[in-house]
Amino acid sequence: MKVLVTGGCGYIGSHTCVELLDNGYDVVVVDNLSNSKENVIEKIKKITGKKIKFYKEDICNKNKLDEIFSKEKIDAVIHFAGFKAVGESVKKPLMYYRNNLDSTITLLEVMNKHNCKKIVFSSSATVYGSPKKLPITEDSSLHTTNPYGTTKLMIEMILNDLYISDNDWSIAILRYFNPIGAHKSGLIGEDPNGIPNNLMPYIVKVATKELKELSVFGNDYDTIDGTGVRDYIHVVDLAKGHIKAIEKVSKDKGIDTYNLGTGNGYSVLQIINTFKEVNKVDVPYKIVERRDGDIASCYASCEKAKKLLNWEAKLDIYEMCRDSYNYVKKNK
Ligand code: NAD
Ligand code: UD1
Repeated sequence: MKVLVTGGCGYIGSHTCVELLDNGYDVVVVDNLSNSKENVIEKIKKITGKKIKFYKEDICNKNKLDEIFSKEKIDAVIHFAGFKAVGESVKKPLMYYRNNLDSTITLLEVMNKHNCKKIVFSSSATVYGSPKKLPITEDSSLHTTNPYGTTKLMIEMILNDLYISDNDWSIAILRYFNPIGAHKSGLIGEDPNGIPNNLMPYIVKVATKELKELSVFGNDYDTIDGTGVRDYIHVVDLAKGHIKAIEKVSKDKGIDTYNLGTGNGYSVLQIINTFKEVNKVDVPYKIVERRDGDIASCYASCEKAKKLLNWEAKLDIYEMCRDSYNYVKKNK
């Protein structure tokens, strides 16, 4: 079975390519390298010892995408490609709507033309906004607070409408919680440009002394120690979830949405302390004001993925902290 992976050179995409190849799938990657590097393809080959086909193209380019589908005879698509920085999306909303929506609509049109109607889509827990009850189930109310999140919600709606119009489609929408960690080889991982916004990439840069100290955004939330609680999930577990989703869309028609998290919440201080303990390294920090738009706690109910996809996360917070640091130490 041949799977097209859009955004396959990126953080989650590259780990998913490894899992796909290890599970015997043929993989074709289309990525414009707007937030990744081409050498990731060589690294995926090195990890798996398998062949992988790569096209450096923008998936908004309909003619090119059409050519790729004609040539490759794709059976299913995993759609990662898109911009993902919340702060940037607030400053440049049109760029986010253009890239994330245009690329998805173009992709779906080309898939339709080639009668390829199986897709797994990367959504985000950000579509839950401020959750009213925890753990968050897939039927919770949806609400977004920034243009990035709105693109995810709009794409979910587009996919729903598409399925209503044509019941031949098989669609899995995956809402990721907070992916961290890296492949144990240390060859692929998360490598944000500039100063990171997310917690783990920031902690890692403090540990390697590229940044002086971490600012902890608030310690007066109603949580175990006052700092924000999130559901961190190892990127390799997340990647394995995509294999289960591909199996599901290959088997059953329909549209369904699944949370991919661990179901456990950890506070910022718990993450810092675990990171220090596992990696035997200091992470200086100071408590500062809350960050605008942050919520106190967010963690998933993953019962639906367990029941319908036969998937659950296996790797723990120690492995997440160890592998995040291992990747950056090896690639500094
Ligand atoms: P990433 O930026 O590392 O990967 C995205 C890839 O898509 C990059 O390689 C980029 O070059 C490529 N790309 C972007 N626009 C493209 C276009 N028009 N044509 C071709 N390629 C394009 O991001 P990631 O962390 O791997 O995230 C993958 C997906 O998962 C994204 O859709 C993101 O919104 C979603 N997601 C990520 C997180 C997270 O915390 N990392 C959480 C929830 C959801
Ligand atoms: C952020 C995004 C969210 C996205 C998710 C995964 C915002 C407002 N939300 O969520 O849309 O889906 O990433 O990519 O950007 N923290 C610190 N200091 C830091 C960084 C973070 O204390 O330097 C704290 C935060 O306050 C939060 C926790 O660490 O409590 C996790 O933050 P982060 O990694 O940015 O993820 P989210 O806030 O969950």
